[in-house]
Amino acid sequence: MKLVGLVGSVRKNSYNAMLLGFIGQRYEKDFHLDVTDISSLPYFNQDEENDAPTVVRSFKQTILDADGLVIATPEYNWSIPGILKNALDWLSRGERVAAGKPVLIVGASTGMIGTLRAQVHLRQILSSPGLDCRVLPPGGNEVLVTFAANKFNEGGQLTDEPTVLFLDTVVHKFLDFV
Ligand SMILES: Cc1cc2nc3c(=O)[nH]c(=O)nc-3n(C[C@H](O)[C@H](O)[C@H](O)COP(=O)(O)O)c2cc1C
Repeated sequence: MKLVGLVGSVRKNSYNAMLLGFIGQRYEKDFHLDVTDISSLPYFNQDEENDAPTVVRSFKQTILDADGLVIATPEYNWSIPGILKNALDWLSRGERVAAGKPVLIVGASTGMIGTLRAQVHLRQILSSPGLDCRVLPPGGNEVLVTFAANKFNEGGQLTDEPTVLFLDTVVHKFLDFV
């Protein structure tokens, strides 16, 4: 199974990037997770949506070819970062390559809310007609890595055992869902 990862942070030591990296490693026997760079996408421009730049076309093809997506979002001012919204806006126009794609949402923050508000927004965005993704339902499946600075080691490994065990449960539910 081939999953594509999107991360809404370009920060060098991003906890969300670490979380995706950890997921890719821990479940490598179950699926291949390829994290796609969204930082090089230009700002969405409606004038170009039907004749998009090469980098956008290649990004859309990557999504089209994926069996599902894993999106790791930080929470910026109670929502998702602009870089992630920009990538999703490109996906929502022209050929609707994300339609019907299974999506697992995860997130890590340094605070006590663990990206909950961003994840609620993200679910709403992914349900819009242009995206129309099939998101793993939230009941019992919300991967909210709170106080992230205490849960990853210096090598970027998620070391908090209850969080890892919960992640195991949710990831395996997601694989059934896919
Ligand atoms: C512009 C900005 C806005 C932020 N807003 C929130 C917020 O609304 N809620 C929250 O819990 N953390 C907020 N944070 C803190 C982030 O959770 C924290 O910086 C986190 O580490 C970002 O994810 P990353 O490590 O993947 O870059 C904000 C950080 C930045 C830079």
